[in-house]
Amino acid sequence: MSEQSKDHNARARELVSQMTLEEKALLLSGNGAWRTHAIERLGLPSIFMADGPHGLRKSLGASVAESVPATCFPTGSALASSWDTELVRQVGAALAKECQANDVQLVLGPGINMKRSPLGGRNFEYFSEDPVLTGHLAAAYIQGVQGEGVGTSLKHFAVNNQEFERMMSDSILDERTLREIYLPAFEIAVTQAQPWSVMCSYNKVNGVYASENPFLLEDILRKEWGFEGFVVSDWGAVHDRVKGVLSGLNLEMPGSGDVNRKKIIEAAQAGQLPISRLDEVVTSLVAVVLKASEHRRSGARADLNQHHALARRVAGESVILLKNEDHLLPLNVSAKKKIAVIGAFAKEPRYQGAGSSQVNPTRISNAYDELAAILGGSERLSYASGYDVEGETTAQLLDEARQQARDADVAIVFAGLPDSHESEGFDRSSLEMPEGHNRLIDVVTQAQPNTVVVLMNGSAVTLPWVNRVKAILESYLTGQAGGGAIADILTGRINPSAKLAETFPQRLQDTPTATEFPGLNQKAHYGEGVFIGYRYYDKKDLEPLFPFGFGLSYTTFAYSDLTLGAASIKDTGSLTVQLKVKNTGKLAGKEVVQLYVREEKPAVSRPEKELKAFAKVSLEPGEEKTVSFTLKPRDFASFDAALRRWSVNPGRFEILAGSSSRDLPLRKQVQVEATQVTFPKLTRESMVKEFKNHPKGEAFYSRLAKVIMGEPSPDAGQVKRTPQEERARKKADLSTLVFVNDMPVYKLVNFSEGKFTEQMLNDILAQVQ
Ligand code: BGC
Repeated sequence: MSEQSKDHNARARELVSQMTLEEKALLLSGNGAWRTHAIERLGLPSIFMADGPHGLRKSLGASVAESVPATCFPTGSALASSWDTELVRQVGAALAKECQANDVQLVLGPGINMKRSPLGGRNFEYFSEDPVLTGHLAAAYIQGVQGEGVGTSLKHFAVNNQEFERMMSDSILDERTLREIYLPAFEIAVTQAQPWSVMCSYNKVNGVYASENPFLLEDILRKEWGFEGFVVSDWGAVHDRVKGVLSGLNLEMPGSGDVNRKKIIEAAQAGQLPISRLDEVVTSLVAVVLKASEHRRSGARADLNQHHALARRVAGESVILLKNEDHLLPLNVSAKKKIAVIGAFAKEPRYQGAGSSQVNPTRISNAYDELAAILGGSERLSYASGYDVEGETTAQLLDEARQQARDADVAIVFAGLPDSHESEGFDRSSLEMPEGHNRLIDVVTQAQPNTVVVLMNGSAVTLPWVNRVKAILESYLTGQAGGGAIADILTGRINPSAKLAETFPQRLQDTPTATEFPGLNQKAHYGEGVFIGYRYYDKKDLEPLFPFGFGLSYTTFAYSDLTLGAASIKDTGSLTVQLKVKNTGKLAGKEVVQLYVREEKPAVSRPEKELKAFAKVSLEPGEEKTVSFTLKPRDFASFDAALRRWSVNPGRFEILAGSSSRDLPLRKQVQVEATQVTFPKLTRESMVKEFKNHPKGEAFYSRLAKVIMGEPSPDAGQVKRTPQEERARKKADLSTLVFVNDMPVYKLVNFSEGKFTEQMLNDILAQVQ
C-alpha cells in the first residue's frame, strides 16, 4: 500500500471510530443515483460517480440521453483494436480532465468482460475475447484516469457475459475456466493499476450473486490480489444487503433510502453483523472518498477541442483494414476520380452504443463532410443514402445507389449495425447485418468493381459479400471524431495499424457458444470451458472469417531473428524474448507484434496457444527495430484444479511471434524445468493409477494392481499357448489392467472379497502421506 493510501486509511479509520451505527449504515448505500452520502458533522464530503467508459456521462435527468456534453471516444471494441496501451492511457487522462471539469470524482469504467459470444449485447463496450490484451489495456486506462486524480470502477466483476436476464442469470463454470479466462483481465488491472473501485456484476457466479460472493470479493479480490479500494454494486445488483456487507460489498448503488440501512442496523444490533466487519467495509469506502475529495480540482476546465483531436487520433489508430485487393486503398485523391459515397452512415454515423455508456458528444464528424474537406469540396463526391434508420431499403433507394455507383470511379459503402441491433440490456440474436445493408452492398458491387465497405458496428458481424468487394474497413463505433479518422484512412493521411481484438467467425454455428447463447432460464453453462475466441477456433481447426489479431496496413512488415534468453528455464524464472520487425514497404506505419505461448504436451486440455504479450511498433520505410518481451512463470502456467493453484507443467513450450493469431512466422522452443512438483494427496478415493504416477505411491502400485490382476502363476513361463491364445490372454490382461487402473483403491477391499483388508489399505495410505 502506498504512503498516501496508508494515510487515507488511517484517517478513514479515525473517522469511522467516531461514527454512530446509523452513520455507518447510511454510508453503505448511495444518496440517490450517483452520489455517496456526506457526513457533515465529521467533515466527510460525498463523491459523485458517473458512467464511462468511453466518455463522461454525467446524468442531468432521468433519461440516459440527458447528460453534460462530453467527448465521445471510440467504444471498447474500437479502442482495443488499437492495441496501444499508451493511447488508452491518454484517453483515460482526457476523460478524467472532463470529470474534473464537471466535478465528478469517479468514472464507472472500464468495462472489461470477456467476449464469450459475439452476440453479447455489451460487446461494443468491452475490449476483447482475450484476457491479457484486455487486462493491459484496462490497466493503462485506469492509470490514465487515476493519474489525473479521478477514480475508476473496474466492471463488471465477474463472469458477466450476457445481457439476457442479466440481473438473475447464474454463470456456471469450473474454477479453471474462471481463473484462466474470466478473472485474469481483472487480476492484471487490479494488481498493476489498483482501481479505486471495482463494480460487482448483476449475475450469480456458481449459484452466488456477485454482490454477496465472499469467494470473489474477499478471497480473490482483496486477499489474493491486494485490492485496496471499495466494491460498488452494479446499479440494482444488491439482493441481501447484510450478506453483501459480510461478503465485502462496500457500497450499494443506487441508494435504497432507509430500506437496507435499517437491515444493516438491525443485523448489527442483533449481532449477526459484527461491528468490526461493518467498520472494515465502511473504512475502505471512506478512504477512497477522502482520496477523491483531496484530488478535486474546483474550477478545472477541459480543453474540448484538444479532446476532439485526441478522439480523432484514437479513432485513426482503431480502424482496421480487413481487406485491400489491388491496393484500392488509399484512394488517390489527386487523380480527380469521382467517388460515390453510399449509405446513410456516411452522413449520420453510428459512432457509439446505447445504454449507460451513451455519451452526449460535444460534436460529431461524419465521413462524407470530412472527405469533402480533404478533397477541397464535394464536387467529386456523390451520395445516396441506401437505407433508412432501421437498415431497411427500397427499390428506389437501391436504384439511386446503383446509379451513383455506376457513374463513379469508386464506391464507398457505409454499412453495419443500426442502433436497434445492439445495446446494453439485450443480446444480439444473429451475426447478420440488416438485410437492407447487405442488399445495398450487392447492388453496388454489381455496378462498380471498385467497392470499399466501411463497417460501423460494435461487435463482430458476418460479411456474405466479402469476396465481392475490394476493400473493407472495420471502424467499429468510432466515437464523435470517427468521420475524420475514416476519411484520413481512406485517403492515406493515416496508415491503418489496428488489429482485431476479437475473432470474426464465418457463421454463428462456428462460434464457441453456438449450442446455447445466451443461457436460458437464468442459467448460463460455460460448457466450452477455456475455449473462447481464438482458443476455440484453434482447437477446432476452424477457419475464421478474420482471425484474432488480424489487420492490414498500407505498408508491409517482415519478422526475423527470434532469440530466446535461454534454451531451458526453471518454472520460477523468466525468459527474455527478442525479435526483429522491419517495415519493408514504402510508407511509414505501425505494426502490432504479438507473442503467444504453446505448451507442447499439456497434462490438461489447453488452448493451442495463448497471447502473452504484445507491442505496437512505429516504423519508417526500411526501418527495423528489435522488440523485447519478458515471459514470467505465470505465462507458462495453467490453473491446477485439484491443487487450486497456478502451476507449470514441466516440459517443452513453444514461443510464437508474428502479426496475428494465424500468422506467426517466428517459432522457438524452450524447455521449462519444474523446481517443485506438488502431487495431490493420495486418499481412499485415489485411483490405482494415481499411485503409479506419484513419487510416494509408485512403490505400492504393483501391489495394489495385483489384488485384482493376481500373481502370475509359478508355471506361467512353461504353459504352452497357441499364438491365438497368447493374443487373447494379452487382450484380457490389458482390459483388466485398464479396469484396475481407474478404480478407487478402497474398492480393492470388496473386489478381493476381503483378502485385501481395510487395515492393509490404511497401512499403505499412512505410508504415502
Ligand atoms: C450498468 C453499469 C452502469 C450503471 C450505472 C448499470 O445498469 O450495468 O455498467 O455503470 O448501470 O449507469
